Amino acid sequence: MYKDLEGNTAIITGASSGIGRAMALRFGREKMNVVINYRSGEQEVNSIIQEIEQSGGQAIGVYGDVTREEDVKKLVAAAHEHFGSLDVMVNNAGIENEVPSEDLTLEDWRKVLDVNLTGAFLGCREAIDYMLEHGIKGRIINVSSVHEMIPWPHFVHYAASKGGIKMMTETLALEFAPKGIRVNSLGPGAIDTPINAAKFSDPAAKASVEALIPLGYIGKPEEIAAAAAWLASSESSYVTGITLFADGGMTKYPAFQGGHG
Ligand code: NAI
Repeated sequence: MYKDLEGNTAIITGASSGIGRAMALRFGREKMNVVINYRSGEQEVNSIIQEIEQSGGQAIGVYGDVTREEDVKKLVAAAHEHFGSLDVMVNNAGIENEVPSEDLTLEDWRKVLDVNLTGAFLGCREAIDYMLEHGIKGRIINVSSVHEMIPWPHFVHYAASKGGIKMMTETLALEFAPKGIRVNSLGPGAIDTPINAAKFSDPAAKASVEALIPLGYIGKPEEIAAAAAWLASSESSYVTGITLFADGGMTKYPAFQGGHG
């Protein structure tokens, strides 16, 4: 637990499921105020709010589509109205779909880029604007992926969006370091969440993913939430512009394990 996070206010986009949900619960245990953005899963949001309140934090749920400028503005307004501040912005909402690139429609390309990259940009811009206006040395966490680094055939739109997140994070980190605003990315590997539910329900597909992970297992959302808490806290005070990979070693060329190559 990070004492300095107590009473801080965070927005987490796409927080009704998976990694976003785990981060909301973790921030609740840090006794933070959490704005839970969701586009679906209202029922789930109510139970997350209850759990956060039981662990000593506060939370509200705010519906919104991160690709809509006015919805993202509403998230920041809600943080200000309910909790009087915005200290941590987590751009987590993301989507993917598998399509061989020669068949990828412009519609699908735009949809994934819109949510994963443009949505995160809007979250960064609105949060930074608020932090500058209120003199807050805030922290931005963009949820990227190992696929900002590892190419991923059949997911070219997803990989391009996460590559975009990397350079957006680095650029904003440089631009706003003089104001004390830290901007970092978090790069999960393969994590057990709804985005992977179909794949991991097939034992052979699951085993083929596990074979790519040096630590040998699919990560838990809580392990990503723990990394987010560290990036949000002052324990990472000298860290900006990085991608923190929490990936069981997936980015470390597992094919070379055992001295191959
Ligand atoms: P998930 O599907 O449970 O979470 C994604 C959330 O984003 C959902 O709650 C969904 O409703 C929300 N969302 C989608 N479009 C939205 C929109 N337009 N506006 C607001 N919310 C929207 O999956 P997961 O795994 O928790 O994904 C979270 C993030 O982690 C994503 O950015 C994903 O790319 C990233 N990630 C996940 C990995 C994994 O193995 N699970 C690995 C690497 C990155």
